[in-house]
Amino acid sequence: MNHRIIYGFLAVSAMNSAMAENINPIAKGQAMAWQCAPCHGTNGQEFEESMPPIAAMPAEQFTKAMLDFRQGDRPATIMDRVAKGFTDEEIKAMASWFELQPKKQWVDTSLEEAQLSLDATRGQK
Ligand code: HEC
Repeated sequence: MNHRIIYGFLAVSAMNSAMAENINPIAKGQAMAWQCAPCHGTNGQEFEESMPPIAAMPAEQFTKAMLDFRQGDRPATIMDRVAKGFTDEEIKAMASWFELQPKKQWVDTSLEEAQLSLDATRGQK
């Protein structure tokens, strides 16, 4: 694990605890999703052999995968440890966010598309 990932975890954990409970669950899912990006790509949009893509994954499938990792019911090299850092509610928030992400490579996303996606999360425009 490199330092970028560790700092990412620390920054986002601090952010998680600072977040109000009544925040929009999709925005909350998006904020937590940044810490998945070093491995799974921006918005889970890394599609290559070595990394399972999580963009556009049905929320139910995502939630089951995370709960299985957390409980040790699914073999993992790293995701068991990652999943232990999240509550059921946080996992559901991330599931809602990742399900909405287009199934394409993040490097193919234009800046304009990225901005539209951000605006949608904030409920603007
Ligand atoms: C350090 C790299 C790394 C980070 C960070 C990471 N993952 Fe993973 N993820 C993996 C690997 C590797 C696998 C394959 C299972 C394993 O070996 O642990 C995986 C598998 C998954 C799967 C199962 C995909 C499938 O096809 O069933 C999900 C869901 C997932 N990760 C979600 C997340 C979420 C959500 C985060 C952020 C909170 C995250 N991951 C952060 C490396 C990572």
